[in-house]
Amino acid sequence: MGFDEMDVETIWMDGEFVDWDDAQVHVLTHALHYGSGVFEGARCYETENGPALFRWEEHLDRLFASCKPYEMEIQQSHEELTTATKELIRRQDLASCYVRPLAFYGYESLGVSPGDCPTRTMIAVWPWGAYLGEDALENGIDVMVSSWRKHASSQIPTNAKTTGLYVNSMLAGEEARRNGYAEAIVLNKEGNVAEGPGENLFLVRDGEIFTPGLSESILDGITRDSVIRIARDLGYTVHDTVSISRGELNTADELFFTGSAAEVTPIKRVDNVTIGEGTRGPITEEIQTRFFDIVEGRTDEYEEWFEYV
Ligand SMILES: Cc1ncc(COP(=O)(O)O)c(C=O)c1O
Repeated sequence: MGFDEMDVETIWMDGEFVDWDDAQVHVLTHALHYGSGVFEGARCYETENGPALFRWEEHLDRLFASCKPYEMEIQQSHEELTTATKELIRRQDLASCYVRPLAFYGYESLGVSPGDCPTRTMIAVWPWGAYLGEDALENGIDVMVSSWRKHASSQIPTNAKTTGLYVNSMLAGEEARRNGYAEAIVLNKEGNVAEGPGENLFLVRDGEIFTPGLSESILDGITRDSVIRIARDLGYTVHDTVSISRGELNTADELFFTGSAAEVTPIKRVDNVTIGEGTRGPITEEIQTRFFDIVEGRTDEYEEWFEYV
């Protein structure tokens, strides 16, 4: 669904609430040319206590951390960004939504050095259902191992959520979709499994859970962290500092993606290989059910993960 079909009217930009159509930048904005922005993608869920931002503080922490390698200084505090976000959700009367904060080098000069370019910040919220479709959550998706590799973390900080990095995600995702798959799995420079274009990856084998470690050129996903905690609390052994080879994908009992957008999405096929029974696996289902029970407020555990609007 395009933005024009959505009932959203306001964007927060550099301290002000502006009309959706007026949230514009100059074409000589530094970030537009060099990908010099950092962003977040978070969700606000409908709960019995009203809309609640899921792990919002962690998203803000990551946003500020992503600025560091680029010496970018967001002009607002955590508190100001939180107040702005809650106000946006309230003004638009959204029960649940996706939240997109972005900080970027703006308009001043166009050398690669950002020099005196101001750091600009915006936040938008809009309704966004299941990222890979409702059917994906229940029945799983087919994925393709991309011919594109992830940037190595020695080439660019892959733990910073930088806008420029996402052309790699776009290439991998579009290649997969052109070939009839819903999404890609991207290998790192060493040829081990890194993650999806916008998701972390989990593998289940012999009742234990594995996910590539942070040194595998992945984003330190907040849903990844939540799922590790949920799985351990359910009694599973989770290996989260491992390398996973491409071949291990084929022999996995279950595979699933995690992400703020993708939530917990089962994978039923990788290239021409069926994973497990070719349906959502039992451990994936257990974790996914628990995840949605938590984010939709059907349990009062993990209260510290919520920021109520
Ligand atoms: C490349 C990449 N990996 C993993 C993730 C999942 O991270 P999170 O769970 O924090 O949304 C995302 C989404 O933000 C991503 O873009």
